[in-house]
Amino acid sequence: MSISKGWLSLAALAAAGFQAQALAQSDANHEVTYNGEVGKIINENCVVCHREGGIGPMQLTNYDQVRPWAPLIQLKVASREMPPYAYDHGIGIQDLEGDWRLEQSEIDAIVVWVNQGSPMGDADVVVPMPELNDPSEWNFVSQFGEPDLIVPSISMDIPANGNDLWSNHYVPTGLTGDRCIKAVQVKPRGDARAVVHHANSSLVLPQDDGDMERYGMLTEYAMGKWGEIVPEGVCRTIPAGSQVSWSIHMFPGGVGATAEGQMIKDNVVEIGLWLHPEDFVETASYKQDLKLYQISPQADIAIPPNGYSMTQGFHSFDHPVRIDSFQPHGHLRMNAASLEIFYPETGRTEQISQISKWSATWHHSHIYDPDVAPLLPAGAVLVLKQWYDNTADNPNNPDPDMWVMGGSRTGDEMTHAWLAVTHLDDEGFDKLVAERKEKEERSLAGND
Ligand code: HEC
Repeated sequence: MSISKGWLSLAALAAAGFQAQALAQSDANHEVTYNGEVGKIINENCVVCHREGGIGPMQLTNYDQVRPWAPLIQLKVASREMPPYAYDHGIGIQDLEGDWRLEQSEIDAIVVWVNQGSPMGDADVVVPMPELNDPSEWNFVSQFGEPDLIVPSISMDIPANGNDLWSNHYVPTGLTGDRCIKAVQVKPRGDARAVVHHANSSLVLPQDDGDMERYGMLTEYAMGKWGEIVPEGVCRTIPAGSQVSWSIHMFPGGVGATAEGQMIKDNVVEIGLWLHPEDFVETASYKQDLKLYQISPQADIAIPPNGYSMTQGFHSFDHPVRIDSFQPHGHLRMNAASLEIFYPETGRTEQISQISKWSATWHHSHIYDPDVAPLLPAGAVLVLKQWYDNTADNPNNPDPDMWVMGGSRTGDEMTHAWLAVTHLDDEGFDKLVAERKEKEERSLAGND
């Protein structure tokens, strides 16, 4: 662990300890117990990964399993490393869909509980376990039913050990007409979950000369990723005759040694697509797309040994847009990213998102709640920034004495972000602004 990170964790613990004192003083008899409140927090926020067959390294499904880990849980929770969702509090938009962050009160409860010796509490109480999806189920089944279309990758056997493996290939979607995507999820089938590090999928269109023309990104998967829902009334097109271009990165022995010494046979990654009815293509008011926004030219990246670097890039549109999601991308030296919007008409800059502890081990598409997703008039400027730490303080850094240049190998760096954008016209923009204003006024009136 780095010095700066260690200091931050200690500061967080000290702050939490201070709150604990305040809490203890306000209610001297208040004992925080596992059966009282902590078990519920863990069941609702941790067990989804920390259970039999989950991607977490240990199980946390009952008191006996949790108790030995209590000090490490306190550290990881207080430093907000667990649940793994590094998105800053107090800066920019906080209403996100699929947000794994704990409430401050939940963090405080866990910290106090461990400081008090991690007691079990009333033995007669059974902490309820939320109904969890079978990890082999699709995540959106309860909302949308089974997917309308499943596109599997080509099967591959992964040896028990060795270097990273890659598979790049095409699989036809079989669609004969353009369709609109309602939701999408990528899911490694069965044991593949342990060895699939990430899987990117884009859409390509076969050309007459046999070449494949890139149509656009379909979705991106990395361990822990949930899936994407396209906002209501908007079409994200999947075109007729398209094929899925898979790029799958696999890790023998498993990510985090989840399949140590095991040969994983017949690895298949599947894309589940929930589609709108055929005629939605004509009725949807606006199009959404997911695209890569380059921040600075890859060739410009040169991070000195034991040093730092930063990239900054701008993008604007000649029509109004809504930004639906933000997913920064980099490799092992990248440690922070932000999104701002500059409004030339007023000279104002608005902070939208900040991720100060970004890590390449977790890739999140931060999906803005549609009620607060940034609305940009034509000409407003997206300001994208990313930071790089090539010192020994960066826990992901394999070699601080090396120059790091732009490139696609894990040891090189990249500087881009993925944004899902709904492309509006003036009428659509005015309508969304008016709807928000009305909602705001209604909620203000409701609070009075
Ligand atoms: C999305 C899946 C996921 C969720 C949710 C999650 N974890 Fe984890 N956890 C992991 C993975 C994977 C690792 C190992 C790799 C890493 O540290 O990133 C891990 C590591 C840990 C570790 C460190 C173990 C070690 O040996 O270093 C602790 C402690 C932990 N988790 C506790 C928690 C707690 C407590 C919660 C809930 C508040 C939680 N986790 C939520 C996936 C998850």
